Amino acid sequence: MCHDCSPGAAVPPAEAPSRRSFTRFLAAGAGLIVLAACTPEAPAAVAPSSASPTSSTGSAPAPAPESTTAAPPTEVAAPAAPSPAPSPSAALPRQFSLTDPASPWLVVNKHRPLVPADYVPADLVPPAVAMTASGEAALLNSTTAAAAEAMFAAAGRDGVAMVLASGYRSYGTQVGTYNNYVAARGQADADTASARPGYSEHQTGWAFDIVDGGGACSFQPCFADQPAAVWAKANGHRFGFVVRYPWMFHPVTGYYYEPWHLRYIGVEAATDMVARGIFTLEEYFGVEAAPGYP
Ligand code: DAL
Ligand code: ZN
Repeated sequence: MCHDCSPGAAVPPAEAPSRRSFTRFLAAGAGLIVLAACTPEAPAAVAPSSASPTSSTGSAPAPAPESTTAAPPTEVAAPAAPSPAPSPSAALPRQFSLTDPASPWLVVNKHRPLVPADYVPADLVPPAVAMTASGEAALLNSTTAAAAEAMFAAAGRDGVAMVLASGYRSYGTQVGTYNNYVAARGQADADTASARPGYSEHQTGWAFDIVDGGGACSFQPCFADQPAAVWAKANGHRFGFVVRYPWMFHPVTGYYYEPWHLRYIGVEAATDMVARGIFTLEEYFGVEAAPGYP
């Protein structure tokens, strides 16, 4: 069995990262503003207190390309309590590349840029779902679009209105998005909320942002308590989606909590992550944490 992408160490949400480390983080960043991460336009600002770990959604974390063959996994150092790797026999076998932007298991983060940087998915399509997005932002790759259609329909059957707010984002668009954040907040804050061009999941068509039917708390931490976010967090894996930037895992992912940002990795892997209690792709696929750019 190939262990390269073996699902990694399970990190109990109550332990990693710790609230103490998070508190230290907040203290160190007094005045720090949690940016609404994925808005293509100007970011919305929310005081960090609104992203308190005491939120009702805080029970689970509430704000060089690698070879595709056989490089040994790099264990992720979770900020507070690195966990041991699970038994390889319990891991899913490698099925897809972690570096190919066309792979559902792609891991792109601040240490793992897209290659090529100006990658464009070959199969962008508009999903048949409720949306406020327009233009290229209304597109997803075909696999993600089909999964989104199934998920949005299932949410609707449960009485939850889910709306697509932002899907595909080209390299050129990300240039403008990121620059807007930098202009508004400075680069350090921008980097906690918006990917630099060539580093965004939105450029792959595997990810999109949702808003609630009522539009409440869009792109703000309080979105975590809105029906669409609650439903997506509880049910997204059944359709292959994970909340890519979970609460308090910014030392691993590099971004503050984005309850609106859903990433497709396939039903099997997403369900396995839930079963193992693993919250980040870095931990699940055994690649290093990426809190900042090298
Ligand atoms: N907000 C996410 C990190 C992005 O810009 O892709
Ligand atoms: Zn997003």
